[in-house]
Amino acid sequence: MTEPTLTQVDPEIASLIQKEEQRQLDVIRLIASENYASRAVTEAAASVLNNKYSEGYPGKRYYQGQANIDAIESLCIERIKKLFGVEHANVQPYSGSPANLAVHYAFLRPGDKTVGLGLPAGGHLTHGWKVSITGDFFSAHQYGVRESDHRIDMDQVAALVKEHKPKLIWCGTTAYPRTIDFAAFAQIARDAGAILAADIAHISGLVAGGAHPSPVGFADIITSTTHKTLRGPRGGMILTTAKHAAAIDKAVFPGLQGGPHNSAIAGLAVAAHEALQPSFKVYAKQIVDNAKALAEALMSRDVTLVTGGTDNHLILADLTSKNVSGKKAAVALEAAGIVCNYNSVPFDKRKPFDPSGIRIGTPSITSRGMTVADMKTIGNWMADVIEAPEDTKVHERVKTELLALTAKYPAPGLAR
Ligand SMILES: Cc1ncc(COP(=O)(O)O)c(C=O)c1O
Repeated sequence: MTEPTLTQVDPEIASLIQKEEQRQLDVIRLIASENYASRAVTEAAASVLNNKYSEGYPGKRYYQGQANIDAIESLCIERIKKLFGVEHANVQPYSGSPANLAVHYAFLRPGDKTVGLGLPAGGHLTHGWKVSITGDFFSAHQYGVRESDHRIDMDQVAALVKEHKPKLIWCGTTAYPRTIDFAAFAQIARDAGAILAADIAHISGLVAGGAHPSPVGFADIITSTTHKTLRGPRGGMILTTAKHAAAIDKAVFPGLQGGPHNSAIAGLAVAAHEALQPSFKVYAKQIVDNAKALAEALMSRDVTLVTGGTDNHLILADLTSKNVSGKKAAVALEAAGIVCNYNSVPFDKRKPFDPSGIRIGTPSITSRGMTVADMKTIGNWMADVIEAPEDTKVHERVKTELLALTAKYPAPGLAR
């Protein structure tokens, strides 16, 4: 007897998955941290590897039956090392947040000092923001961006480091549209004798594809998620020099985690294989070209952009001058088939749950094959909706028009 399918066993969940797949096909996905993983990545990530326990590392496990798992994790490590040009890679973190916590655990004890970019300026929670364990258990000090141009204030970083003498300095962002000056951070960290950790969660695909400067050679530790611009399965990784390899490995397992998610590691190995192909460089560059073109299109409609543009995959729009809040705009945009997230802008006068901005990213639409020519169209649709957030006729018109565009571009990894 053949085993029943998901639809037969659990039609409710099967139907919701099918609806989500249709949604991902029909809408224009502009959430900067999302992407479409390829069918090959998704196949590996949803495989029988899910059934296996393998605490430990290749060649040193606490369970038998590891011949295939060891080979998969070793392949993943070798590919990631090659892709980023690093001496050591730990591919076991369950996601970006546990990867960052593991870095804290490797080098700090509770109460030790850190310096990182504040959340309102585009930093991530796990770089010491007060509601995160990284801000609660450690003594975290936060730098920001300059009021004049909203760029990271390296003078403030240097002054904070001088004042607090942290053991660990974070660079890397979650809502910042410009390149990170890893060399400048490295100089500050070196002068202070601190560990520099670069969190490249958002830009790891751009770094791998040569579309953003690499922190390799500057940062002691590099962390990343695997599911954003890199187009892998959901997961995390930590890249280091040989010097810090043992400390990081010990912090991940047994310090923080138990058995690795072998299916995610296999998916990451496939994503790394894809990213090592010459076409990935073209893809990474196209993400940035698309972001720049979308930024131009929005600015041509008088939408204010934080820092006046973008160098990466991400745009932060401040809608104050359009007299609409970020949340209201994001809800209206979704009604029109364009999905992004509302986001605080630097020095935001509004509350985080209804801030002044929206965050927009081009990784997903680039994975579908959209190019610069499509960005003008999308930018104009967005401006139409932002200028008429309550006009359902405008939303309906945009939704109908954009279905013709999304129909032209197949979405990778989806069944249809
Ligand atoms: C810069 C940065 N670091 C870490 C994370 C956390 O990753 P995860 O959501 O996988 O825990 C994110 C997620 O958006 C991020 O943007």
